[in-house]
Amino acid sequence: MNVVAFNGSPRKDGNTAYLLNKVLEPIRAAGIATEIVQVGGTNVRGCRACYTCKELQNKRCIIDTDIVNTCLEKMIAADAIILGSPTYFADVASEMKALIDRAGFVSHTNGGLFKRKVGAAVVAVRRGGATNVLDSINKLFLISEMIVPGSTYWNFGIGLEKEAVSKDEEGLQNMANLGETIAWLMKKIKEA
Ligand SMILES: Cc1cc2nc3c(=O)[nH]c(=O)nc-3n(C[C@H](O)[C@H](O)[C@H](O)COP(=O)(O)O)c2cc1C
Repeated sequence: MNVVAFNGSPRKDGNTAYLLNKVLEPIRAAGIATEIVQVGGTNVRGCRACYTCKELQNKRCIIDTDIVNTCLEKMIAADAIILGSPTYFADVASEMKALIDRAGFVSHTNGGLFKRKVGAAVVAVRRGGATNVLDSINKLFLISEMIVPGSTYWNFGIGLEKEAVSKDEEGLQNMANLGETIAWLMKKIKEA
């Protein structure tokens, strides 16, 4: 079993990365392989609406000049997908939006590549708009027939400067609880 997490923040070692690692800690402790893929700050472009993915049915996006096809391969191979984003004007960062649109559309036009995988959203926020970011990410999971576990609060951590979320104790505990639930759920699904 394996979990792949995507960091949509251009700050590679910022708050989103910190939170993703907190979620992954109990997953690793449960013996499940994990990986974090850096998407934020890369030169990723949006969907062209060319529908070539629908025509070719090859589980790929026709745009092959950025990281999205690599992300797609990792998503298809994973048992659980975690999408992490900072809050930018109360929504996901642009790079995460491009990944959602293109990977989500390839999945959709190729028969549902993410069906029954576990999906979790993780959000860094300074003050407001985080629940909308969660909603944007969860919409991809829910339209993809994925299974979305909850935690003890909504999955965001609060902070402005890099690693400021390390002071948000409740946020960090929520991430740890989320990680434990993801690991538990993955094992139950495997047994089913
Ligand atoms: C372009 C931009 C827009 C932002 N918009 C918001 C916002 O709408 N609400 C908010 O609370 N914080 C906002 N922030 C602050 C970030 O969400 C916050 O600093 C977050 O912790 C950054 O995560 P990171 O370190 O992973 O990049 C914004 C930051 C930037 C650079």
